[in-house]
This record gives sequence, structure tokens and C-alpha cells, in this order.
Amino acid sequence: MTSTAQHPLNTDEPVDSLTDHEEEARDIVPDDMPSMLSVPTMRSRRVSVSAESIQPSSVSKQEYIVHPKTEDQRQRINAAIANNFLFKSLDDEQAGHVIDAMAEKRVSQDTVLIEQGAEGDFYYIVESGTFDCFIKHDSTSNKVTSYGPGGSFGELALMYNAPRAATIVATSDGVLWALDRITFRSILMDSTARKRRMYEQFLSEVPILRSLKTYERHKIADALEPIQFDDQQVVMREGDVGQNFYLIEDGEAIFYKTAEDGTQSEVNRSSKGDYFGELALLHDNPRAATVVAHGRLKCVTLGKKAFTRLLGPVMDILKRNSENYHAILREASKQD
Ligand code: CMP
Repeated sequence: MTSTAQHPLNTDEPVDSLTDHEEEARDIVPDDMPSMLSVPTMRSRRVSVSAESIQPSSVSKQEYIVHPKTEDQRQRINAAIANNFLFKSLDDEQAGHVIDAMAEKRVSQDTVLIEQGAEGDFYYIVESGTFDCFIKHDSTSNKVTSYGPGGSFGELALMYNAPRAATIVATSDGVLWALDRITFRSILMDSTARKRRMYEQFLSEVPILRSLKTYERHKIADALEPIQFDDQQVVMREGDVGQNFYLIEDGEAIFYKTAEDGTQSEVNRSSKGDYFGELALLHDNPRAATVVAHGRLKCVTLGKKAFTRLLGPVMDILKRNSENYHAILREASKQD
């Protein structure tokens, strides 16, 4: 049996109350940050920090933070997390605890939500508004990404007990859902960290992803879904509408094209580290070839939205490669 604990920062406070607590916590972070764990924050009033750092996944199994919510708020949270990969592997009970623990946070334009180097307190999911993410190196600050509705940030410091890796600023008024670090670590962290670790090596060896930063590959890992095919199983058929992008983790895929007389011939083969399925997504075209597993084929896939968003930095390379690919396919059909 699990018991329910009220959030000590309380639930009946006005919506903006989190801002004050966060500001307070931030204000007492010393500039030189000698040790993150020794920094006293609001969080340490709720739970022993040392217990948390020793056994991250065993804390709070018995007690859950609850911010009571209206039906409208629950629906808005569900909409905000609908496409968030971190929530996909949760069972209903875990998802319930996470939603209970979220606190609504309204911010106005120019609010600094997260400051690089500060201690991590909350993970944020964007319901509305836009947010820019900056990383400072030496004295220059570069914008690395931005977030809109459905986006989320602030997981790194909570996962790795590390200082905030970037600064996040609201570029409009907005509404976010803030999830405290205890709930994040006890429910969301394990599966996320496991998945990032599991695909880290593989993704770093995929040629098309080599130019990406580690963090960009982690975001891809969050979104990957594994899928396996038996020998001779058809992965996709020429002419179908394309929904997914595939990376080959293991095994071999054979590509066939149909000539005008209806005969099929092999035009290509791919193996570990190769990708396929991008043409239909890049150009909104039907599948250009039939793909069949040759032996057991192990892949990971990204849906169309994730493909567009997460592979943005390599989109030019994908497009350029796709032109070569078209040339190869044209050559192959001429020879038939
Ligand atoms: P965290 O370090 O907790 O707080 C800042 C957040 O910025 C970080 O978690 C990530 O969620 C997000 N972020 C976005 N892009 C990057 C990046 N390139 N490197 C590190 N963090 C990033």
C-alpha cells in the first residue's frame, strides 16, 4: 500500500508560488558551487539529500507528492505529455503519480527558468509559450535549441546530480508543468537513463549521426522504439505511405524495386549502422522501395515528427545523400 503525502511546498498556494521558491533556492546557490549536494535548498526540507543521492530509485516509493488538480488541469497535462518519450514507458500507476506531482507554473516573457551552473530542482514540460536554451562557453553564449508546447527540459541535472548544463529563458508568456526532482528520479529517471546508456554506443557509431553532439544523440535515444523482423519479413512495401525512419542495429535489409513490367529486382543492401525509410519522410513521397529482412533484422525506429525534429541538424546531409541515392536507384532501374 502506498500512502500519499502532501507537497510541503503545498498545494493550495497560488499558481506562481513555485517561482518564489525557486528564486529563493537559486539565490542561495553560491557562485563557486563547491558541492551541489551541500547547497541547502527548499528541497532539503522535504527529504534527506544524502538518502536521495545514495539510492535514487528507492526513495519515495512509499510517499508521493500530490498537488491536487482539476479535471481541466489533468487534461492539459495529458495533452502536454502526449508526445513526450520519457512518459511512454510508464505504467498507469506511475503515470498517475507523476501527474499528481506536477505543479502548474505560469511565467512571463524573459523569465529565466533555469540558469547554467545552478542546482537542478525541477524538470519542466511546456504547455504553452516558447523558450530558448543557451549554453555559455568562456564568455560567449550560444543558443542551442528552443522549445514550444510539448517540449521538455531540465532532466540532465536531475539525472546526473550535475549543475544545470544550460540556461533556459522564456521568449513569451507561458505555462509549464514542473516535476520535482524526487519524483523525477524515483519514477522517470531509471528508464530514461537506461535507454540513453543502452543506445549511446550504437548511436555514436551510426555514420549519419556522427556529427551530432552527445546530448542530441541522447534525445534520439529517448525517442527510439525497437522493432525486429524475421528472415524474409517485409519491413515496408514500395508505394506505401511512410510513417517511420529506421536504423539497423543488427542484421541485413534488402531493397527491391518494381520495374514497369512488374518484375522486382534487388537494388541495394544495408546492414548495421545504416538507415532507411528517410526518403518518404523527407519528400512526402510513397515508399520508393520494398524492404525485406535478410536473416533476423533488428532495427530502431523514429516516427515522422521525431525524425524531423531530432534529425534537424543532419537534415542537409540526409537530403544530399538522398539525391545520390536517387541517382543510384535511377542507374539501377536503367540497367534492368
Ligand atoms: P539541465 O542541465 O538540467 O538544465 C538545462 C537543460 O537544457 C538541460 O537539462 C537540458 O534539458 C537542456 N538542453 C538543451 N540542449 C542542451 C545541450 N545541447 N546540452 C545540455 N543541455 C541541453
